[in-house]
Amino acid sequence: MNPASPQILDGQRVSEELLGELRNAAGAFAKRTNRRPKLALLRVGENHASVFYMRRKCAAAEKIGIEVIVEVFPDGTPRGPVEEKISRWNGDPSIDGILVQAPLPSAEYQRFIFNAIAPEKDVDGFHPMNVGKLACEDPTGFVPCTPKGILRLLRAYDVQLEGRHVVIVGRSLIVGRPLGLLLQSRAVNATVTVCHSQSRDLACIARTADVLVVAVGHAKLVAADMVREGAIVVDVGQNRDENGLLCGDVDFLSVAPKCSYITPVPGGVGPMTVAMLMENVIQACVMK
Ligand code: GUN
Repeated sequence: MNPASPQILDGQRVSEELLGELRNAAGAFAKRTNRRPKLALLRVGENHASVFYMRRKCAAAEKIGIEVIVEVFPDGTPRGPVEEKISRWNGDPSIDGILVQAPLPSAEYQRFIFNAIAPEKDVDGFHPMNVGKLACEDPTGFVPCTPKGILRLLRAYDVQLEGRHVVIVGRSLIVGRPLGLLLQSRAVNATVTVCHSQSRDLACIARTADVLVVAVGHAKLVAADMVREGAIVVDVGQNRDENGLLCGDVDFLSVAPKCSYITPVPGGVGPMTVAMLMENVIQACVMK
């Protein structure tokens, strides 16, 4: 591989292939049970990114034959009404999966809400039961969609992870933490370093990575001097640059020439996250 012309990890293309397969699985479920799989989505407030992501999730679900219901609570809604709605969805046998879009008003609010979702409907994999199952390598749990999508994308390009050093920048519940668990599992066998806002000499650690995953939500944080020649770079960021254009956490133009593989933004990790959500909804149906 010539590092001067990296291979683009095309999440758009790979996700479209996966959605084709998932459409067949959704159709088979509908034929067998006389009803379509059903996903319930909830949001509190009008955060632009959340509105955008939820639209993407709805569109993908409808495209492959998953029914969607959407509930939006206004900004400032206390936890009570949201917990009540989730409780009703937990007890509704026609609903297979429940997703509450993050961010929520506070970390405490988010913890209570994620904990309120029935683990068997928690298609985001954020309930402590599913986080625990991931840590225990119990395959009956739900794996969070972005980490799962990153691994699936790398696998689609035959990127080998066994024994390789993966540096993850960001320790969020949504990406960094579960990705670290997945990568160190016996199924993947990578060596993992997780960095965060308090890590000292981030650039020095990042340069030791065979695979560098950046998920911090900071536009163009990673520049060329933080990346080893020939590294694989996965950019989870979705930010706006100084001109209002969508950009990742990686400065693509300066970093890409050093990489063997790199994900674009948009069209890299984002579409894979949506496809993995659809897969998790099908998993929820199958596990019933
Ligand atoms: N906000 C950003 N990514 C995600 C995700 O994967 N799931 C949820 N629920 N919220 C998010």
